Amino acid sequence: MMDFQQIFNAAPEVEASAPGRVNLLGEHTDYNDGFVLPTAIPQHTIVSIGYSPNDHHHFYSAELEELLDVNPTEPTAQGFASYIDGCIRVLEAAGYTVPPINIFVTSSVSIGSGLSSSAALEVATLRGLRSLLNLDLTDVKIAQFGQQAEIQYAGVNCGILDQMACSLADTEHMLFLDTRTLDRQILPFPAGAGIVVIDSGVARSLASSGYNQRRAECEAAARQLGIKALRDVSDPQLAEQLPDPIRRRARHVITENNRVLQAAVGISAQEFGELMNASHASLRDDYEVSVPALDALVDILQNTPDVFGARLTGAGFGGACVALVTAGEENAIAQTALEQYNRVGYDGQILVS
Ligand code: GLA
Repeated sequence: MMDFQQIFNAAPEVEASAPGRVNLLGEHTDYNDGFVLPTAIPQHTIVSIGYSPNDHHHFYSAELEELLDVNPTEPTAQGFASYIDGCIRVLEAAGYTVPPINIFVTSSVSIGSGLSSSAALEVATLRGLRSLLNLDLTDVKIAQFGQQAEIQYAGVNCGILDQMACSLADTEHMLFLDTRTLDRQILPFPAGAGIVVIDSGVARSLASSGYNQRRAECEAAARQLGIKALRDVSDPQLAEQLPDPIRRRARHVITENNRVLQAAVGISAQEFGELMNASHASLRDDYEVSVPALDALVDILQNTPDVFGARLTGAGFGGACVALVTAGEENAIAQTALEQYNRVGYDGQILVS
C-alpha cells in the first residue's frame, strides 16, 4: 500500500484516527431526539495531513487508490472526497480558516455495512485538522460538525448517533446518549457478554431514500400527536390513534426508546439480548427497514447457542447484524453462524468477533 510520503513527496504534519461504531440498541431514534446505545469497533479510519504546496486540496484514498485535486472555490467534491470537503466547508462556515491541504486516508471500516465508515472519516478528518491548525474544538463539537458535513454535503438527513459514537465511544464500553441534550454516560457491557458483528453481504441499496422517508414519517407522527419529537412520549398506546403507516413508525420509535432506557440501568446479558430481539422484530414489522437477508441472519444468530440476542444494526435495508454473545465465545459463534448463513445462499462476512 502507498503512504503519504509516496503520494505527496513529503512527510505528513499530523496523523489522526477515529473508529467505526456498532449500535447495540436505539435504532432510528436519534432523529426523534431519542436515546441510543452504541459502542466503538476495532476497525478505524486513519488520516495523515500536510499542507498543500499550491492553492488546491489533494485527497488520496488508499482503498480506492484515487487521488483527487479539489479546488476550494468550486462546487463540493463527490464520493469519498465529499466527506472531507464537507468537513472543511463546515469549519469555514463556522469561521475557521483552513488552508489548502494534502490528506491521505486509509480505513479498515467496511463501507455500506452500517458501521459508520462515513462518520469515522469525518471525525478523523476533523481531529486531524484540529491538531494541524490548533483548533479549539471539543469532541462533541467535532461530532456536530461531522453531522453537518454529512447532512449538507453528503445528502443524508442523519441524526447524531454515528458521529457522537465515532468521536466519544471506545471499544470497551457502551455509550448511552440522550440525543436531545447530548447528556451521556459511559457504561460497562452486560456482565459476561461480548459482541459479534456479521455483514449480510447485501449492500444498503435503498438506504438514503428510505431513510429520509422514514424521517419524514416520524415528523408527521410527532406533528399529529402535537409534540416536538417522538421522544416526548413513552406510552406506545398513544401511537394507536395515528393512521397507518405512521402509527407503526411511531410505535417503533416509542418502544425502541423504552428499550434503550431499560438497557441503560444495568441489566443482565439475558435481558439485554431479549431487548435486542424485540428491537429487530420492531424494525422489521413496524419500521420496515429489514430485508430477507437480515432476517435470515438474525434468525440464525438468535438460534445459535450462547447468543443472548441479535438484531440488524444501523439504518437497515442491508448491512450488518449485531449479536450479544457469551464473552470468550465470539469467534466460535461467529464462525458457526456465518457457515450456516452462507450455506443458505448468502455471502456474509465476519466483521467483529
Ligand atoms: C444511520 C444514521 C444515524 C441513525 C441510524 C439509524 O446510521 O446516520 O443517524 O439514524 O442510521 O439508527
